[in-house]
Amino acid sequence: MAQVFDRSSNALARFSLVLAGVIVIALGVTLDQLQRSPWVTRQGQRPDQPIPFSHKHHVEGLGLQCQYCHVQVEKAAYAGIPPTKTCINCHAQIWTNADLLEPVRQSWATGASIQWIRVHDLPDYVYFNHEIHVNKGIGCASCHGRVDEMPLMYQESTLQMEWCLNCHRNPAANLRPTSEIYNMAWAGPSSDKPVWCASAGKGGETSQNVKCTTTEPGKGGPELAMLQSRPATGDAQTVSDAPTTGLAMPATYVKFTSQIELGKYLTSQYHIRNPEQLSSCETCHR
Ligand code: HEC
Ligand code: HEC
Ligand code: HEC
Ligand code: HEC
Ligand code: HEC
Repeated sequence: MAQVFDRSSNALARFSLVLAGVIVIALGVTLDQLQRSPWVTRQGQRPDQPIPFSHKHHVEGLGLQCQYCHVQVEKAAYAGIPPTKTCINCHAQIWTNADLLEPVRQSWATGASIQWIRVHDLPDYVYFNHEIHVNKGIGCASCHGRVDEMPLMYQESTLQMEWCLNCHRNPAANLRPTSEIYNMAWAGPSSDKPVWCASAGKGGETSQNVKCTTTEPGKGGPELAMLQSRPATGDAQTVSDAPTTGLAMPATYVKFTSQIELGKYLTSQYHIRNPEQLSSCETCHR
């Protein structure tokens, strides 16, 4: 009987197997990278908006606060996009003839809202809520980046599950005083720029009951009324304040010079759930 396969075909078969393996792995790697690529996550893209609205001009230039336009961000799941009325507050007087603002005038005249294109858009099966993040000490910039420096809005983070989990596994690294939520340049405490915090006590244990300041208490710092003394935590230093008026209660401020210490303190003050609870599927997929 004639030999159907000669010896070289054996080597060929082995070679094709290896080749197939390489192709499968390469395909896997490509798909994985594709799934993480900005093309899929939309990270960094600036969609063509009906109006080239500049956060840089309005926030950094004019000093407008985020809440001036995103009024719901502390109270609701959605931060919300401002209605045309908000723009008209100023643009009825400023830049009234500019072509760039024609869609604003159109919208105001007809009552049809401006068709902004969404920049951030999580899939429907993911639950997200601004209110809890903002009220538990996560700043806008931790998720959206330096919005005050963006001439056109883009998505700074991937918004992928891995990104959410990265913080949910160690929220302490990102916690800041709620008074610093809108501070785009916040970089955490350091020995040059310490932060002092005191608990306002009074039983109500919400994040609002923690008062923090970046100026040394007693040296033009915040008013001390209502603050009660509380024991220091960890190895952080304390600054005990004598009341400046007969009415104020003595307050014990804890001084922080590192994010690690501040994060630990705020985790307990804000009653942040543990990483296991925050990473459980039900937290984000309900
Ligand atoms: C003068 C009004 C105004 C102010 C002030 C303002 N925004 Fe906006 N913001 C808008 C408008 C209008 C849009 C929609 C157009 C766009 O995406 O650029 C928007 C969009 C956004 C988006 C993207 C929304 C999406 O589609 O996913 C984010 C994030 C955002 N703003 C964050 C901020 C932050 C953070 C601040 C404060 C530093 C701020 N904004 C201040 C008007 C404002
Ligand atoms: C508090 C007043 C105020 C509000 C509110 C406001 N603007 Fe403006 N806007 C200005 C001023 C002032 C300028 C001129 C800025 C400059 O040239 O430095 C301007 C400039 C602009 C420009 C010209 C390009 C640029 O960025 O310089 C556009 C477009 C614009 N605004 C769109 C909007 C839209 C859309 C809204 C509503 C979401 C809005 N503005 C809300 C004050 C305002
Ligand atoms: C923990 C991360 C996180 C923080 C902190 C955060 N955002 Fe967002 N933001 C998101 C995500 C995620 C979306 C997309 C939500 C969606 O698609 O449902 C979003 C969407 C938005 C939008 C689009 C409208 C909306 O509500 O979907 C605006 C405007 C916005 N954020 C503004 C802000 C402002 C202002 C702050 C600070 C006060 C802030 N965000 C803080 C993650 C965050
Ligand atoms: C920079 C840190 C950070 C990032 C990024 C982040 N989170 Fe959170 N998240 C927190 C903190 C802190 C809490 C509050 C935990 C607590 O109070 O126990 C929280 C709470 C939540 C909750 C609980 C809400 C509730 O009412 O129980 C949900 C849901 C959630 N996050 C979803 C998300 C999703 C989805 C993403 C990604 C798109 C995300 N988070 C990204 C820090 C973050
Ligand atoms: C902190 C919030 C958060 C938690 C906790 C979380 N997820 Fe997700 N998950 C997301 C987000 C955000 C996406 C959307 C990712 C995207 O759009 O790329 C997602 C997407 C998914 C998807 C779609 C496929 C994919 O990877 O894009 C599956 C499946 C999934 N999650 C399963 C789980 C399971 C199982 C758990 C528990 C072990 C879990 N998730 C915990 C936020 C979360």
